Amino acid sequence: MLSLSLAVLSAACLVALASEVFERGFNPAHHSGGASPYFEAPTQFDISPETPAGCIVDQAAYIVRHASRYPEPSSFVGWQALYNKLQNATYTANGNLAFLPSWVPPVDDLAHEPLFLSATGAREAFQLGTELRKRYNLTKGGENFTVWSAGQQRCIDTATHWLRGYLGQGDYLASPNENRGTIVFMPDSVNTTGADSLTASAACPLYTGEGGTNASNAFRATYQNGIAKRINQFLDGLELNATDVGVMQDLCGYSFHINGDRRFCDIFQEHEWIDYEYASDLNYYYGSGPGNPLAGTTAFPWLQAITQLLVAGPNRTVGNGSFVPPPLIMGFTHDNDLPPVVAALGIMNSSSDEDVYPLSLTTPDSRRTFRSSYLVSFLGNIALERLSCETPMESTVKHVAGQLNPVPGTGRNARKFVRVRANDAPVPIPACMSGPGSSCPLADFEAYVKGPQATLLGDFVQKCGLANVTNDPDTVDFYVNINSKAANTSIFMLGVDPQVGEPNPFGS
Ligand SMILES: *[C@@H]1O[C@H](CO)[C@@H](O)[C@H](O)[C@H]1NC(C)=O
Ligand SMILES: *[C@@H]1O[C@H](CO)[C@@H](O)[C@H](O)[C@H]1NC(C)=O
Ligand SMILES: *[C@@H]1O[C@H](CO)[C@@H](O)[C@H](O)[C@H]1NC(C)=O
Ligand SMILES: *[C@@H]1O[C@H](CO)[C@@H](O)[C@H](O)[C@H]1NC(C)=O
Ligand SMILES: *[C@@H]1O[C@H](CO)[C@@H](O)[C@H](O)[C@H]1NC(C)=O
Ligand SMILES: *[C@@H]1O[C@H](CO)[C@@H](O)[C@H](O)[C@H]1NC(C)=O
Ligand SMILES: *[C@@H]1O[C@H](CO)[C@@H](O)[C@H](O)[C@H]1NC(C)=O
Ligand SMILES: *[C@@H]1O[C@H](CO)[C@@H](O)[C@H](O)[C@H]1NC(C)=O
Ligand SMILES: *[C@@H]1O[C@H](CO)[C@@H](O)[C@H](O)[C@H]1NC(C)=O
Ligand SMILES: *[C@@H]1O[C@H](CO)[C@@H](O)[C@H](O)[C@H]1NC(C)=O
Ligand SMILES: *[C@@H]1O[C@H](CO)[C@@H](O)[C@H](O)[C@H]1NC(C)=O
Repeated sequence: MLSLSLAVLSAACLVALASEVFERGFNPAHHSGGASPYFEAPTQFDISPETPAGCIVDQAAYIVRHASRYPEPSSFVGWQALYNKLQNATYTANGNLAFLPSWVPPVDDLAHEPLFLSATGAREAFQLGTELRKRYNLTKGGENFTVWSAGQQRCIDTATHWLRGYLGQGDYLASPNENRGTIVFMPDSVNTTGADSLTASAACPLYTGEGGTNASNAFRATYQNGIAKRINQFLDGLELNATDVGVMQDLCGYSFHINGDRRFCDIFQEHEWIDYEYASDLNYYYGSGPGNPLAGTTAFPWLQAITQLLVAGPNRTVGNGSFVPPPLIMGFTHDNDLPPVVAALGIMNSSSDEDVYPLSLTTPDSRRTFRSSYLVSFLGNIALERLSCETPMESTVKHVAGQLNPVPGTGRNARKFVRVRANDAPVPIPACMSGPGSSCPLADFEAYVKGPQATLLGDFVQKCGLANVTNDPDTVDFYVNINSKAANTSIFMLGVDPQVGEPNPFGS
């Protein structure tokens, strides 16, 4: 009796403490753009994330943003400025802002935290490893598994946690020599490796992300002062401004993954989150996505390399390659390296309604499918799955004693398709979606990449203004040439000697 009433009482407390926005089923951390911790995006196209009936995935390529991390040092300066402002004034704070006088920035190890993964980030990466092991079953436990990573520590750490998750099954941890993961990593955001990089836009002199910064700053200026005015009603003796609102909205997603603190999420109303999210969408759409005419060009060499591998099929190399990549091809990089892939694929940039794209500079359009929260959240990822399909199994299947029935999709004459997913949710290629689950027949996909997309986006060297730079690579070779001189790769093995830490090749 007593325990029952206690349970009822604590449930009542939880309800009383839950914020208005969360109560209505709106999670601000799912509308925080690049500051969103990882979550699986909801379907926007009515396509089930399940592998279509009669198909198996026999090969897949992923490009993944590093997992949830602490802020960049430059954003951390903003957190500290907010803290100083809150501490230096004498004021009263009410309602959802009453916590501000006792709030401290959630960073307790200055030497390590700004920029590095949070515990949530480590879990996100590990979990994606276990998830993809379960989803595809493309390699056996204990095999030497190679992944690729940009060189910054947060990317290599994400690759490491992912590998530990992917290799976690089968007690290989007790036998480190069998739990083999290999990371091929390359210089991060340099201009010396041309297109042969997981951060190729840094090597494209004519590329600039300014269009995104300009568009998002202009849009923020339309709503941040209004929010400041509203929340200042809860303060007496202190006035917050547009800059503070920007920092406080960022702190929702960050605090949520760092220590589960939702108090900044609770301060703002749903429409204020929608505006915040849209500012992030504009930043990525015009900065590194389909709204930047050079973005697709910087990812086209990557798309070309992956297309060749998908056409060749699992466990084959291509061109002059000396290395056979695993059937699951993982690449870990940064937020601004994913929207270029969207642009190169020609996705999330068209609608049956005419006036949705290019995105409006002034008004969030709820019909848009380019959503930064569903693409460049922490651990945000784009997958190209190769489907192998046959007629789906009938509901009644006959078995002959002693003969294992083949799984539909594994037969010699199975037809091949490519399906794109972003943060788990399938995304159609509007120019090519006649296959199962709105996928694209592999031959058509190849023709699409080599034809219209190459014409529109190809020629990295020429379009980037590198025609006069001798020998700047215009193709990606590191997937099939892991000792690539052009990409300046290094190879690190995980698990062979557990005493050896992770590499720290380029500082943070
Ligand atoms: C708050 O005070 C600290 C130390 O007294 C000072 O360094 C900082 O600049 C002040 N911050 C603001 C926003 O006035
Ligand atoms: C996973 O693949 C292996 C072959 O590598 C096979 O023996 C095993 O049955 C598969 N597991 C599942 C659950 O399909
Ligand atoms: C591809 O190679 C992996 C080893 O990396 C192996 O586990 C898998 O069975 C092979 N798949 C095919 C389709 O040959
Ligand atoms: C694992 O694969 C890497 C290539 O990615 C290779 O350099 C290394 O020698 C292999 N290690 C073992 C123990 O097979
Ligand atoms: C790379 O950057 C350096 C330093 O900013 C610059 O001097 C050099 O010209 C750049 N090279 C290319 C190929 O853009
Ligand atoms: C961004 O705004 C600045 C300052 O107004 C301007 O000089 C620059 O050309 C703009 N960049 C783009 C890509 O629109
Ligand atoms: C907001 O106030 C801070 C000082 O507290 C100041 O540094 C910043 O420039 C102000 N932002 C705007 C947009 O006025
Ligand atoms: C995205 O759509 C806009 C509007 O139709 C178009 O101008 C732009 O070229 C498209 N971007 C890409 C990369 O296809
Ligand atoms: C193989 O390498 C040679 C010499 O570098 C080059 O000319 C040729 O185009 C390459 N072939 C392929 C298919 O990449
Ligand atoms: C390349 O160099 C030539 C001769 O120096 C010059 O005329 C031309 O404008 C340069 N092209 C580019 C794209 O810089
Ligand atoms: C290659 O990368 C290493 C770091 O792994 C760096 O020290 C070196 O300068 C790079 N070399 C070139 C030619 O860029």
